Amino acid sequence: MRCKINNCVKVLIFFIISILQCEAFDTTENPVITLEYGKDINNINTYYVEQNKSLQIIFKNSHAGHVRCYDVQSKYGITFIEKGFLYYDKDSVINITSVTPDMSTRWACRALQKYHGGARDVYKSVEHTAVQYYFHLHVKGARSVSVSINGDSLNFTKMGLNVQHDGEAFFSFIEHQNIELVCASVDKQFEVSLEYFNQNGEKIFEIPPKGDTSLLFRTRLTSKQDKFYIDCICHTNNKYLEYRYRTYFYKQELNHNPDKQDNTLIVTVNGLLERYVRRTGSYFDYPIFKYVDGEMIIVTCEAKRPYSSIPLQFYFDREQVTLYNRIKVKKIDDKIVGTINSSAVFLNKKTLSCGFNSRSEKEEYARITFESDVAVGTVRVFGLARPNILYQYRSGDVWTTVYQYSVNETISLGCVLNILPSGNYKFKWNFNGEESSRNGYRVKGMMKYADENFIKTLTEHDDKKIIKCIVYENYKILNFAEIRLQLKEISNSENFEDQINPHTSNNLIIIFACIPGLVLTITVVGIVYWRKRIQRPKTTSNTEAPCNRVKEDNEMTPIPESMYDSCYSENSTIQPNNDVPKSPDCSDPNHHHYEEVNYLQCKPKPSEPQQRSSKIYNVAYDHVRRCRSGK
Ligand SMILES: *[C@@H]1O[C@H](CO)[C@@H](O)[C@H](O)[C@H]1NC(C)=O
Ligand SMILES: *[C@@H]1O[C@H](CO)[C@@H](O)[C@H](O)[C@H]1NC(C)=O
Ligand SMILES: *[C@@H]1O[C@H](CO)[C@@H](O)[C@H](O)[C@H]1NC(C)=O
Ligand SMILES: *[C@@H]1O[C@H](CO)[C@@H](O)[C@H](O)[C@H]1NC(C)=O
Ligand SMILES: *[C@@H]1O[C@H](CO)[C@@H](O)[C@H](O)[C@H]1NC(C)=O
Repeated sequence: MRCKINNCVKVLIFFIISILQCEAFDTTENPVITLEYGKDINNINTYYVEQNKSLQIIFKNSHAGHVRCYDVQSKYGITFIEKGFLYYDKDSVINITSVTPDMSTRWACRALQKYHGGARDVYKSVEHTAVQYYFHLHVKGARSVSVSINGDSLNFTKMGLNVQHDGEAFFSFIEHQNIELVCASVDKQFEVSLEYFNQNGEKIFEIPPKGDTSLLFRTRLTSKQDKFYIDCICHTNNKYLEYRYRTYFYKQELNHNPDKQDNTLIVTVNGLLERYVRRTGSYFDYPIFKYVDGEMIIVTCEAKRPYSSIPLQFYFDREQVTLYNRIKVKKIDDKIVGTINSSAVFLNKKTLSCGFNSRSEKEEYARITFESDVAVGTVRVFGLARPNILYQYRSGDVWTTVYQYSVNETISLGCVLNILPSGNYKFKWNFNGEESSRNGYRVKGMMKYADENFIKTLTEHDDKKIIKCIVYENYKILNFAEIRLQLKEISNSENFEDQINPHTSNNLIIIFACIPGLVLTITVVGIVYWRKRIQRPKTTSNTEAPCNRVKEDNEMTPIPESMYDSCYSENSTIQPNNDVPKSPDCSDPNHHHYEEVNYLQCKPKPSEPQQRSSKIYNVAYDHVRRCRSGK
């Protein structure tokens, strides 16, 4: 019985080892780069490697007397490594002891062969033929980005070679949370782009690189966006080398129903219920509401029972809102609704609170601070129904709004420019390339408003059309803002990108690479076990299983190679080859050695497993390359 249990334990340990092997990708060495003379000269392969680990490059059949590898992209061709080969070895092998971030670039390696024509180079006073090899080396995480969501910066975990992206972070949100994500490159000379994927890894939206080192992206997260992710990508001056930092969105499971949130006052601004509320003393603080000057702001404040019998009141920075504030307030049932014309009222950085008109000690308020979102020098469009805005982003100082409309919906848009009062401006509306003729504007404080609204009833033919408000200064375009229309489809409202680019997860590939290994392992173990079961009656016809038979048994049922070829023991006295079912009365202590084998001490063999895993990497990356080049 004890033997049987031991067997089970061994099988279990075996599984664990198999699983560990699959997980062990992160700790393996960098894959060996092998370039073959006559084949791999001038390939544009990208090799992924990890920082601080050694790297071996083999130039097969190169018969070189000298090899120098350098950075093609640097002005002076900084040398990474060079080595002479006295005997013009068939294969030139170069070892780099530790990979550094500056090695993440396009490489050239110049091999000098005994002269046989072609490009000449003199080495040791003798003419040689110079052969150049090129490739890209991507050092994981060699370039960084900074990403913040609603002002909090994310901390990225560096990723190993088993995944393609360079780092990842998580953001947990609550239903209907508005987010503002800023993606910026740390090294200010590199531009960034942003890609948004659904939970199936399909790209649903992207902001392509346009020379900006910082992008701002806004959207609203609901349970539908659970497990969606955004990649903030840093582009270098080498188009083959980009560094991808991934942020996953996870919906936070609240213990209570968010519709029954514990604040007594529920505030809705322009039809958007903001869930993310913090309690500060007797205040329920709503997130800052950023408005575009000119926008009509409708604030609804609703009291939960049993408070609803007490009259509600709005206060503006603690002053009760009166007609003097030019805010229209209506009471509807147990709600109050305030309408604010943000171009008529000075609203920037003002706080509106809502509470009961009572003198109770326990009086509670909801409060919300308004902030103008129109920075100096920028053009903004207002008048779109906020709940239908899918995304909004700023690239450079140009704002784009992706708006989902319904057929026969009429839009009326205003346009505002924030600029010091100087210059000769013209405001023009541009719909799908057609420009409006009127171009006047009116001034209110710093703000200049187009004197004409863009009014249109949208049809199904307006899908993907672009509305622009362009401001000219002295007949030259000063700046603009644009709206991208997206027809609301009942089935697939999120997929408005023309080409949906499936971006398969590399994890899947790893899983696919590991599963056959596991299955094979299970099968082999199964067969071995089964064979032992079959053979046992033969070898143990006599119930007292003689221990000297064990050896024989061992020969007949070889241990599956795969079980040990990936593990070697530093302590040679450990004999793991004792996996034999034994009868309980086996007293020979030598046969119990296997119980002492510490499988966790097993280390990958220095050569084979490495090669195996590097093959898997290459499969994975080749696949990614294929996917990407096929787009
Ligand atoms: C590489 O080593 C340097 C110096 O020991 C260390 O500062 C850095 O964090 C290491 N980088 C990685 C990715 O391990
Ligand atoms: C290069 O490194 C490998 C593995 O680390 C080692 O086996 C080999 O001997 C080294 N070669 C040279 C020339 O240093
Ligand atoms: C990131 O790390 C810093 C410092 O450890 C910490 O203050 C901050 O809260 C972290 N950010 C997130 C989003 O976890
Ligand atoms: C808002 O106020 C401005 C004047 O400040 C006025 O021209 C505009 O018509 C008002 N908007 C609405 C919707 O009442
Ligand atoms: C849009 O309006 C037209 C004309 O009034 C009408 O025939 C059509 O059915 C409407 N379509 C929708 C989807 O409401």
